[in-house]
Amino acid sequence: MRIGFIGAGNIGSTLARLSVGAGHHVVLSNSRGPDTLADLVARLGPAASAATPAEAAAGSDLVVVTIPLGAYRDVPAAELAGAVVADTTNHYPDRDGRIAGLDDGTTTSSELLARHLPGARLVKAFNTIWSEHLATHGQPAGSPGRRALPVAGDDAAAKAVVAGLIDEVGFDVVDAGPLTEGRRFEPGTPAYDVRLDAGQLRRALADADR
Ligand SMILES: NC(=O)c1ccc[n+]([C@@H]2O[C@H](COP(=O)([O-])OP(=O)(O)OC[C@H]3O[C@@H](n4cnc5c(N)ncnc54)[C@H](OP(=O)(O)O)[C@@H]3O)[C@@H](O)[C@H]2O)c1
Repeated sequence: MRIGFIGAGNIGSTLARLSVGAGHHVVLSNSRGPDTLADLVARLGPAASAATPAEAAAGSDLVVVTIPLGAYRDVPAAELAGAVVADTTNHYPDRDGRIAGLDDGTTTSSELLARHLPGARLVKAFNTIWSEHLATHGQPAGSPGRRALPVAGDDAAAKAVVAGLIDEVGFDVVDAGPLTEGRRFEPGTPAYDVRLDAGQLRRALADADR
């Protein structure tokens, strides 16, 4: 499939490389323009190209939004109506600033992005794993103790698309439920940035006190 990336930093470039390895085409974008991605595209080979965020969003089978949350209003909304979107973002107030609704737990970062993207089929994914572990912890399906990653979203078909990619790049998947349940694997929860297999991850999600 064609996977668009809005953001090509630690997580975006790592997931793009793994996606190319799994046989997908990737279209990368950032805030500074396609020219600044030439070296990365060259390293990834012929299955990779660079574009603007709007171009990466339009016509992709899956779009990965992987930018600092503070920039979420820049994500092109019209192009993402109806699209399957994987949201890797986390809220780090020191980096992203204070955002109303997140401090008091009224909402979650993924619900905030979903509100900005009407019609997008948003799945919270890949936010719990450090990029270096994303690059190194993957194992073939069926490996004992295989690390599992959580997903949350309101659209079952969209979750299946994202879960398929997670499996292809080396991880089991645990469905945490609807998008609002993404609060169970935000920063500071037992599931965040810890190597857990599927059974352990289910327990960690259940233990989250939010
Ligand atoms: N690092 C991790 O291990 C990790 C793990 C899980 C989740 N996350 C989360 O995933 C997100 C990305 O993290 P990261 O570490 O990959 O970030 P990063 O290395 O700082 O890269 C951010 C990327 O987003 C692009 N970007 C910034 N503002 C943009 C905008 N307005 N429009 C389009 N692209 C924009 C940047 O492009 P320019 O350089 O051109 O601005 C850059 O390519 C964050 O929300 C982070 O909290 C990170």
